[in-house]
Amino acid sequence: MSLNDAKVVVIGGSSGMGLAVAKMAADEGARVVIAGRSEEKLRQAADEIRQPVETRSLDVTQEQAVQAFFVETGELDHLVVTAATGVAGSFLELETPSFRQIFDSKFWGQYFAARYGAQRIREGGSITFFSGVAAAKPVDGLSAYAAVNGAVEALCRSLAVELAPLRVNAVSPGIVDTPAYAGMSPAERKRMFDALAARLPARRIGRPEDVAAAVISLMKNGYVTGSVVYVDGGHRLV
Ligand SMILES: NC(=O)c1ccc[n+]([C@@H]2O[C@H](COP(=O)([O-])OP(=O)(O)OC[C@H]3O[C@@H](n4cnc5c(N)ncnc54)[C@H](OP(=O)(O)O)[C@@H]3O)[C@@H](O)[C@H]2O)c1
Repeated sequence: MSLNDAKVVVIGGSSGMGLAVAKMAADEGARVVIAGRSEEKLRQAADEIRQPVETRSLDVTQEQAVQAFFVETGELDHLVVTAATGVAGSFLELETPSFRQIFDSKFWGQYFAARYGAQRIREGGSITFFSGVAAAKPVDGLSAYAAVNGAVEALCRSLAVELAPLRVNAVSPGIVDTPAYAGMSPAERKRMFDALAARLPARRIGRPEDVAAAVISLMKNGYVTGSVVYVDGGHRLV
């Protein structure tokens, strides 16, 4: 199944893995729409994509805004949601509002997108959700992400049946070098990445393009649905 002329909407497409998906889809001839909160980030992303791309300002935690976004978007072929915001922290120290913020952006954001986007997706299209390694492997400080990712994967399987023949899949990235880690100092980030890379079967940290390639494949393969695809360098195994 070709992406040529397909309409691909990436919520979270202004940074990291969403931006990599947007670039790859545009390179395959798709008409790409990227959405996120910051107009500045959207402008920079559009420059980086170097192909015509539509940018739309959207806060995915706002149900009515998501509903209006899809009314304006009209029909589409593939929907990808990478949007998430939140801080990691140990279970007993992370304040409840911080735990909730991760659910608000990552769970409810994907829920709203599917809820209001699904009926506008043309035959043969797909939804790709974003989960993460914390669902499969307990990692200190990531309990909120573990819970959210588990919920996203359960929703994915359920919707793959309920919304069929629309295909619904999820990718589960491991640790991927994206602006999500911009809050760490470069030295701190390097220390963390190097220590983890040495333990991983793949012996390196993920790149946004590693994950984007899996997302593109999920859009194009009409026989994959209800799947969680791990792109984690083997992180969940060690
Ligand atoms: N990076 C990793 O190591 C890793 C590991 C496992 C799983 N993941 C998951 O992979 C996904 C993508 O992560 P990433 O590292 O690529 O993130 P990123 O570089 O921080 O990009 C996040 C994108 O989502 C947008 N966004 C955030 N909150 C939003 C909101 N409320 N409404 C609309 N857009 C919003 C951001 O733009 P604005 O800020 O302008 O809104 C940005 O475009 C996330 O679900 C993350 O949990 C990441």
